[in-house]
Amino acid sequence: MHNEKKKCEHYEKLIAKLETYPQYQKFAAYRDKVLALSNDSLEKTIAIAVSLCLVCAVLVSMAAVALKPLQHSNKAFDIQKNILDVAGLLQEDTDVPKAFAEQIEPKLVNMETGDYVDNMDVDAYDQRKATKDPALSVEIPAKQDIASIRRKAKLAKVYLVKDGGAIKSIILPVNGYGLWSTMYGFLALNADGQTVQSINFYDQAETPGLGGEVVNPVWRALWKDKKVYSSSGDVALGLVKGTVDSSKPDSEYKVDGLAGATLTSTGVTNLIKYWMSNEGFAPYLAKVRTGG
Ligand SMILES: Cc1cc2nc3c(=O)[nH]c(=O)nc-3n(C[C@H](O)[C@H](O)[C@H](O)COP(=O)(O)O)c2cc1C
Repeated sequence: MHNEKKKCEHYEKLIAKLETYPQYQKFAAYRDKVLALSNDSLEKTIAIAVSLCLVCAVLVSMAAVALKPLQHSNKAFDIQKNILDVAGLLQEDTDVPKAFAEQIEPKLVNMETGDYVDNMDVDAYDQRKATKDPALSVEIPAKQDIASIRRKAKLAKVYLVKDGGAIKSIILPVNGYGLWSTMYGFLALNADGQTVQSINFYDQAETPGLGGEVVNPVWRALWKDKKVYSSSGDVALGLVKGTVDSSKPDSEYKVDGLAGATLTSTGVTNLIKYWMSNEGFAPYLAKVRTGG
């Protein structure tokens, strides 16, 4: 109660101070003049409409600014949830921040050398933001840009799941253009850097029911145990039109294409081909395999 009274006194003082400014006095005089006009007058109609727009604009801007921290924390929560999901560590009752902190180890990787970068704050690093910063990213030459992403961050943020010190899963961020949108996701591999555990897409705008089926758990399950590299070391993993015949040779490199969504399917194949190549994570995966 005492606080409320203090607040009122504070606002009263502020208003009294405002009233001493000549600009406010001019505004108040104009406001009184407009309010005294007939409701049918054009000037009053325009002035009220403009004032209403201004008030609404201020309210919307205030809401946007006030909600920004909440948006950021929701985004971070969603990323953590997707990483746990692709690592096979997400249940309905999982405490996401706790499980993430306990079971996932984020690491920064130099994309050119494949080495870990340990002298930077990995939690503060935002790879998607870095991709847009010319100082932190490189342009991908058009010939190599099969995933149509234009730029690549110099450092990638990967996530490890460990079991008694040994790597159990490597979770790699991937992105590439589909039909309507750049699709952002994670690919989880076994410690061999070759066998797929899972894939998911946490941000994409393909058509629901067509390209949007990239988020369908039934389709995602088809990726389990597929292999990335052929015996000659080429990226062999990709989508095929129709259904994969598991009795045929090389079926371990093939995943069913999305029905009625060949363009999104091609986008998924291209992003796998790019991110698993030497331009992507191949140098890093080679080092993981040799324990480097
Ligand atoms: C409204 C609309 C939305 C579409 N959305 C997608 C999409 O998200 N991904 C996609 O690959 N194709 C989409 N298509 C279909 C493509 O235009 C194209 O026909 C299709 O990729 C060819 O695939 P298919 O050879 O498997 O039929 C859409 C078509 C329409 C009319």
